[in-house]
Amino acid sequence: MKERSRLAVLGSGHVGPVIARLAIKAGYPVAIATSGSPEDIALITELVIPGAEPRWASDAVADADIVVLAIPLHRFFDVDPALLSGKLVIDAMNYWPASDGVLNAFEPGGSSELVAGRLAGSTVVKALNHIGYHELEDRARPAGAPDRRAAGVAGDDHTAVGTISALVDSIGYDPVRFGSLSAGRALEPGGPVFGAVLAAGEFRRAVREDARSLT
Ligand SMILES: NC(=O)c1ccc[n+]([C@@H]2O[C@H](COP(=O)([O-])OP(=O)(O)OC[C@H]3O[C@@H](n4cnc5c(N)ncnc54)[C@H](OP(=O)(O)O)[C@@H]3O)[C@@H](O)[C@H]2O)c1
Repeated sequence: MKERSRLAVLGSGHVGPVIARLAIKAGYPVAIATSGSPEDIALITELVIPGAEPRWASDAVADADIVVLAIPLHRFFDVDPALLSGKLVIDAMNYWPASDGVLNAFEPGGSSELVAGRLAGSTVVKALNHIGYHELEDRARPAGAPDRRAAGVAGDDHTAVGTISALVDSIGYDPVRFGSLSAGRALEPGGPVFGAVLAAGEFRRAVREDARSLT
């Protein structure tokens, strides 16, 4: 069997553990980290994310092929871009003023483009941000299941979008690809599929109709 990419999930709050569990189930080796010591999350990781390895963020990232940013956007500024340099990064974050506070830089929308701008040495793909954590786990289905739902994958690098689409597929969703990070604004708060858990056809229709309403 082809060896799976190694994942580092940064963030062990609501959505980080769900992404970690789904990835482990799909056969990915997963390390998980917070901003603090791995000892602090060792027990909870063993109980809640069996199979994940709690590590210091820097160690988890150093050994990873894919890094998932599952941290609040306002904490993103604490992450050293040099740490993520050369990595394929999934931006699962959203700008959510109710919890992030007002961040002027993100006010016009399109947080991933700003995230990518700060992580100039990384390849950033927007994914796994638009489905709530409960649903992300509960609605995951194997390929071909009649009630399988879609999840968007947006990025400027087509190879990277392909890699993350394969991951999304393997964890239980039909990947819908967007050819740029800016097109991926449809996945962000205020976009037509944010918070919605739709089948691929409905998902594409909602995005198309929204694009039409903007022209
Ligand atoms: N909740 C959802 O349903 C959902 C679904 C999809 C996407 N999202 C997005 O995912 C992001 C996280 O949401 P959440 O609800 O999971 O947040 P949360 O429950 O507040 O958890 C945040 C986690 O990030 C960790 N963290 C903070 N700064 C860090 C850093 N510099 N390095 C490593 N870890 C760090 C925190 O641990 P320490 O504070 O101990 O470091 C904590 O474990 C948000 O941008 C949100 O919009 C959320």
